[in-house]
Amino acid sequence: MKIVAAIREMQDIARGQRLKGDTIGFVPTMGFLHEGHLSLIRLAKSRADKIITSIFVNPTQFGPGEDFSRYPRNLKGDTQLADSAGSDYLFVPEGADIYPEGYGTFVQVEEMTAVLEGKSRPTHFRGVTTVVAKLLNIIQPDVAVFGQKDAQQVVVIKKMVRDLNMGVEIVVGPIVREPDGLAMSSRNVYLSPTERTESRVLYQSLLQARDLVLKGERRGSVVIDAMKKTISTVPSAAIDYISVSDPETLRDISTIKEGSSVLVSLAVRFGTTRLIDNILLTIS
Ligand code: PAJ
Repeated sequence: MKIVAAIREMQDIARGQRLKGDTIGFVPTMGFLHEGHLSLIRLAKSRADKIITSIFVNPTQFGPGEDFSRYPRNLKGDTQLADSAGSDYLFVPEGADIYPEGYGTFVQVEEMTAVLEGKSRPTHFRGVTTVVAKLLNIIQPDVAVFGQKDAQQVVVIKKMVRDLNMGVEIVVGPIVREPDGLAMSSRNVYLSPTERTESRVLYQSLLQARDLVLKGERRGSVVIDAMKKTISTVPSAAIDYISVSDPETLRDISTIKEGSSVLVSLAVRFGTTRLIDNILLTIS
């Protein structure tokens, strides 16, 4: 696997691949790779000839007081993992090259970025869409792969790609979990041993939501209240939001309709660590 830092070199390599007739699969990440990221690299590999993985801890998607400066980094470990998962290139641009002095262009998806994560993190998606648009412009991949772990991010990026006529197929990989159900995340390393044990409650509450809906519960508020009750039994958990929403518009759903899909999503703080998770339910 070749490591590339310069934007110009990455553009030249990607152009060269395309001229050779190879399709390009792209997996954007912020590094500190885990099995969730690696599953996306493998998925990309099954959909394209050459795989480019990027690592860039994107400052514009972190709000003031968030964890940008302490976000975990391990380029050496990441290099080995990305290579072993089958990535052909690791793109690791510098902050000053992505956002040079005087940088002034931002991409903003309206409306659906104001709810859920966007409510708690008002500038987050503007940073995500800006950096993903830039990375897609640099690489111009045929396929870009994202994880369902960040369900709203997937919806927002699909919307950006549609609205801006970007010629890339967005592919979504399933959530990879630890054996006890906690969704893998680079941020899980922040958890104390107690918080780590107690964080299992998140997946338990999502399974509880699934069971309730499977048993016929159709009121979003009842599902949310039951989840709140479960999560509240855990001393270190502080709920930011729990939502039952339409998986495409992300609007709240009060009554779940037969034959529809709903996204049950949550954000919960354990001490200073904010975790998100979700489950997609289809009612047949
Ligand atoms: P990051 O949090 O590093 O995640 C990179 C990709 O891995 C995202 O598509 C995310 O949804 C996916 N991912 C993370 N944990 C996962 C898990 N447990 N199972 C499956 N997929 C998982 O998301 C970002 O970085 C950034 O916002 C980025 C898109 C790179 C823009 O800066």
